[in-house]
Amino acid sequence: MKVALKIWRANSADGDRVLREYEVDAPEWATLLDVLDIVKDRHDGSLSFRKSCRMMICGSCGMRMDGAAVLACKTRMYDIAQSGHVPVISAMGNLPIIKDLVVDMEPFWAKFRAVDPYLQPGYLEPSAGKEYLISQERMNVIHKEALCINCGCCVSECNAMESSPEFLGPQALAKAMRFAGDPRDGAKVDRLEHLNGQHGIWECTRCYFCNERCPKGVDPRDAIAKLGAESIKEGIDRDMGAKHAKWFVRSAVTTGWLRETELVPKTQGVVEAIRQTRFALQLGRHGKVPLPFPPHVAKDVVESRRLWDLTREQGREGFAGIVQGEHALGKLANGYTGDATEQELYGPGRFPRPKLPADGSKPPAAVA
Ligand code: SF4
Ligand code: SF4
Ligand code: FES
Repeated sequence: MKVALKIWRANSADGDRVLREYEVDAPEWATLLDVLDIVKDRHDGSLSFRKSCRMMICGSCGMRMDGAAVLACKTRMYDIAQSGHVPVISAMGNLPIIKDLVVDMEPFWAKFRAVDPYLQPGYLEPSAGKEYLISQERMNVIHKEALCINCGCCVSECNAMESSPEFLGPQALAKAMRFAGDPRDGAKVDRLEHLNGQHGIWECTRCYFCNERCPKGVDPRDAIAKLGAESIKEGIDRDMGAKHAKWFVRSAVTTGWLRETELVPKTQGVVEAIRQTRFALQLGRHGKVPLPFPPHVAKDVVESRRLWDLTREQGREGFAGIVQGEHALGKLANGYTGDATEQELYGPGRFPRPKLPADGSKPPAAVA
């Protein structure tokens, strides 16, 4: 088959950046990585990209296709070539480009190292000569996080890192959860204290792009949610993000809906709330804030209270209270019945995404 693609060629040495188009003959089974190999072997030996395993396990071949991070060796080109679309290939985002599709991974590894990505067993030892046995149920808490191959696709798409490069980011935080949630680790509380610091878990904007783009289903945003929930369970709630989350829950349990008027004093404290009184009055004049008294109580508040009681009865606090389902639910909402490929479900060149109510019922159209 004929495959056309455009590649952003870049050279950090001279700052040159140019979009070049290539068309190659490739077998029908070719992935993006195969096509890049063909370009390099037969058309332009100066093209630079990383690869190793060719089977979605080493994490070397992260790059962007049409602005969204992919693993080149996981991306089949057949449907895209058939549709006539010419995808644009570029280096991953949020990391400095060295040349063409190769980025400097050192900032990525620095954050990885910052979360101490190894077990710290503490004083608890298995009895002499025995393995440390853990139930499957307990390991399920960190199953997804353990799947990470350090490819950087999540980091590439992270909104929070774009505006705050110091933010630890989805990969490091998913890795932190892999160890904080491991029952053999004795440093959980120390880890949570560290992760609640500046540029830690509460800096995430919850855009969910990391969940969407992770090629291994790690769902880093869910890992961050687990770390937040466990922090609150352990009483580590000094950050405004934690206070904000706690108020959401409190207000849902007491009145069945979010009492936004009280959000500022509960989250930022009374002094800050007084400072913002003028702004609040302006909002009130324009009908943007409901009066706090008497508080509106939702008709079905009893249901949200029952839900709260149920989570307590089932011991679903902390890590155990986070349900990892967005990716799967997104697939189901897009019409997945168990036998469609992602290309069939979302359209050629499209990527998995959550289904929003405003989306309508049809999957997105293919890129023309
Ligand atoms: S959900 Fe958070 S960590 Fe994930 S990409 Fe968005 S801002 Fe980054
Ligand atoms: S969490 Fe997923 S996208 Fe991020 S580095 Fe790990 S495998 Fe790659
Ligand atoms: S080459 Fe190893 S993950 Fe793609």
